[in-house]
Amino acid sequence: MNILVTGGLGYIGSHVVVCLVENGYDVIILDNLSNSDISVLSKLEKITNRKLNFKEIDLGIEDHVKDFFKKNTNIEGIIHFAALKSVGESVRKPNKYFQNNLNATINILKYMPEKVPFVFSSSCTVYGSAMKQPINESTPHGIAESPYGKTKQLCEKLINKKFFESKNFKGISLRYFNPIGAHQSGLIGENPKNIPENLMPYLTQVVGGRRKVLTIFGDDYDTKDGTCIRDYIHIMDLAEAHIKAIDYLINIKVTKFLEFLNIGTGIGVSVLELVKTFEKSTGLKVNYSIGKRRPGDIEKAYAQTNKAKQILGWKPKYTLTNALKSAWNWEKKSLI
Ligand code: NAD
Ligand code: UFG
Repeated sequence: MNILVTGGLGYIGSHVVVCLVENGYDVIILDNLSNSDISVLSKLEKITNRKLNFKEIDLGIEDHVKDFFKKNTNIEGIIHFAALKSVGESVRKPNKYFQNNLNATINILKYMPEKVPFVFSSSCTVYGSAMKQPINESTPHGIAESPYGKTKQLCEKLINKKFFESKNFKGISLRYFNPIGAHQSGLIGENPKNIPENLMPYLTQVVGGRRKVLTIFGDDYDTKDGTCIRDYIHIMDLAEAHIKAIDYLINIKVTKFLEFLNIGTGIGVSVLELVKTFEKSTGLKVNYSIGKRRPGDIEKAYAQTNKAKQILGWKPKYTLTNALKSAWNWEKKSLI
């Protein structure tokens, strides 16, 4: 079956492409390379031992998306990753985020064939600053703390109100917590084009010598050590959740279906704990200092994950140590 993977050369998309191919799917990758490099394609071909179908398209351009679906009538499933994803950058450049993330999603939903299973990359940022932890799927959505979070709330609303309620639509919105780590080959991993905004690539680049010091954004939060708490999930566990989601949608007999599922480990880890666990698991020192809070950050977010287990039969297999070691393995290999 042909699965369209938008943003498929990015961090999460590339790992999912590997798993799709391993599970017998054919893939068509769309990406505008705004936050990824074309070299990822040959790495994916090396890992999968397969020539892959890639098209460079900006999904924000309506005519290009329309034209793509006109010419490609064989799409049997869609996993939509393409978006800008940095909480901090979205506070500085909100319009860029609203334009890119909303237009790309609207264009795909508008021109995709009806009934084709659709998996959406959502985020725990849709919950805003949730009052209760762990967060479950019925936790009320607070005000999004960042424009990025707002784009994910709006995309979910759009999927629900404009497409699910009015058409035959089968979809799952996966609300990821914080993916980290890399494929065991060390050939693909998180490699943003500019200075990393996310904690994990920044940390490994400091340890690898590409950057001088990791700034921890605030140690005056109401948490065990004052630093923010997140739920860090191994990228290969997250990738597997996508395979389970697309398999599920392909196999269900109903014509209308929509679920929102948390994808995390259920374990809250502070920024300082993550740094210490990295040092313990690799034997390497992380040069860090404490800085100011980052605007747009949520104090704590960790998941309740029973719903994904119940519906998809998915649960994470890897530990934080596994994820941190794999992130370092990827950074080491990219230095050679
Ligand atoms: P990424 O930046 O590595 O990958 C996104 C890819 O989409 C990039 O290759 C980029 O070039 C492409 N892209 C962006 N806008 C596009 C457009 N208009 N047209 C075509 N391609 C476009 O990010 P990622 O970490 O792989 O995130 C993938 C998805 O998961 C995003 O929707 C993100 O919001 C969501 N998400 C990520 C995280 C995380 O921590 N990484 C957590 C929750 C949700
Ligand atoms: N952090 C630092 N220093 C850094 C970078 C991050 O201290 O240099 C801290 C942040 O303040 C936060 C934690 O590390 O407390 C995690 O920050 P990330 O930027 O790695 O991740 P976010 O939780 O802000 O956001 C990420 C993705 C979003 C996604 C969200 C889901 O960027 O796309 O996870 O939780 F929606």
